[in-house]
Amino acid sequence: MEKLVSLCKRRGFIFQSSEIYGGINGFWDYGPLGAELKRNIRAAWWRAHTQYREDVVGLDATIIMHPKIWKASGHVDTFTDPMVDCKTCKGRFRADQVGEIPCPQRPSKMVHECHGEKTEARKFNLMFKTYVGPVETEDNVAYLRPETAQAIFAQFKTVLEVSRQKVPFGICQIGKAFRNEINPRNFTFRSREFEQMEIEFFIRPDAVVEKVAGSVGRYAEGADLSTPQPNWGWELWHRHWVEERVRWYESIGLPRATFDFHWQTKDELAHYAKACVDILYRFPFGAQELEGIAARGDFDLTQHQKCSGKSMEYFDEEAKLKYVPHVIEPSAGVDRLVLALICHAYCEDEVPDEKGKPEQRVVMKFHPRIAPIKVGIFPLLKNRPELVAKAKAVRDQLRPHLTVFYDDAGAIGRRYRRQDEAGTPFGVTIDFDTLGETPALKDTVTLRDRDTCKQERVPIGELVPLLLEKTR
Ligand code: GAP
Repeated sequence: MEKLVSLCKRRGFIFQSSEIYGGINGFWDYGPLGAELKRNIRAAWWRAHTQYREDVVGLDATIIMHPKIWKASGHVDTFTDPMVDCKTCKGRFRADQVGEIPCPQRPSKMVHECHGEKTEARKFNLMFKTYVGPVETEDNVAYLRPETAQAIFAQFKTVLEVSRQKVPFGICQIGKAFRNEINPRNFTFRSREFEQMEIEFFIRPDAVVEKVAGSVGRYAEGADLSTPQPNWGWELWHRHWVEERVRWYESIGLPRATFDFHWQTKDELAHYAKACVDILYRFPFGAQELEGIAARGDFDLTQHQKCSGKSMEYFDEEAKLKYVPHVIEPSAGVDRLVLALICHAYCEDEVPDEKGKPEQRVVMKFHPRIAPIKVGIFPLLKNRPELVAKAKAVRDQLRPHLTVFYDDAGAIGRRYRRQDEAGTPFGVTIDFDTLGETPALKDTVTLRDRDTCKQERVPIGELVPLLLEKTR
């Protein structure tokens, strides 16, 4: 993790928020490479769910919503972590993590091993509070959303009407969420401000499914889970979404083998959940949750119906039934995914330098689809204006289609190494053959592959379609 954190800072992926003032615990900024990486992740997720599926539509709701939403959802009363205080060092710790957090005064010991006297555990609500309007009274309290999901539930009826969807269908959203974590840690893994990508997928409730579809709604080994059927029961929809999400991770370069799957036990499940699968990525600090996929029943819509007095019922024309839909919720964290992708991409290997001698390098092997920069553009020599002019012309030709980085500083090998570390999958070098020194090679460039370091000669006119194909 130390190497990764240092690379993230040095290369501008991620660094501490407010660093010039000493930083602020649990808040992180994304630099130029990190911002591009995040943007590509969001875009890939959004595209996979809204563009490639007909049954999911998007929403972009506000961070601050009516405070009654959080009362109805149960967050005001129950979104808490147990906390203990140490009377010696005055530190505050999550009571269920005292065995994992080092004592601030004696970091060689964990909090539960140090001799400081601890208070009894008490509940600490994780929601950040603020006031709406100029008067700071209890009546004007509002919360920064601790999850994006509740906006989807609150707008369920409106989105249903305007999108003309029919159950089963989903609403997805990407956005910031805020939790006043007692002990943010493991770099960005547990932050106080983070981003979620959530889908609430609305389905017919079980009872109806069983009436309509007989025994279809049971978990079935070997069932074709990639072809959704409207009459599936919640178990099959749940399985479908677990499979969909794993396939999506594979599509951005995280193989199935890097995950553990934790099926929550009855004791671990939230009171409203019927099932929940956590997809765990094997981080250097242990296998930890990247995404949770929960079957939430009709808890949220029913609560909002009760508290707002507005009906959340849906009339199913096919089944001629009115019901409050049940929900399957795949909920992922953007920041945790960025961290997992950075961990997975990091690689130290040995490649031949310009003279063929073995050289150590650090290379970030991002899948081309999510790599922050797609192509590095290099004139072979900086002091030859004709090479520089041609390289800039190639850069301008590619720029409308792909993120490119032009670099003419230093030896070509050094420039390759810099882009390897940034995770740029392709390098285009403009040399004397490009200018026509070997007539048969005029207007061709070398295209270098980051991972194999192999180079091929490609006509400039073919670069855009070829690179778009390789990075899409
Ligand atoms: N709506 C359901 C929900 O919010 P969650 O398991 O609390 O469920 C979903 O959060 C995802 O959000 C997690 O799997 C994780 O990726 C991300 N997440 C949650 N808390 C986080 C934190 N403090 N820092 C970074 N990511 C977090």
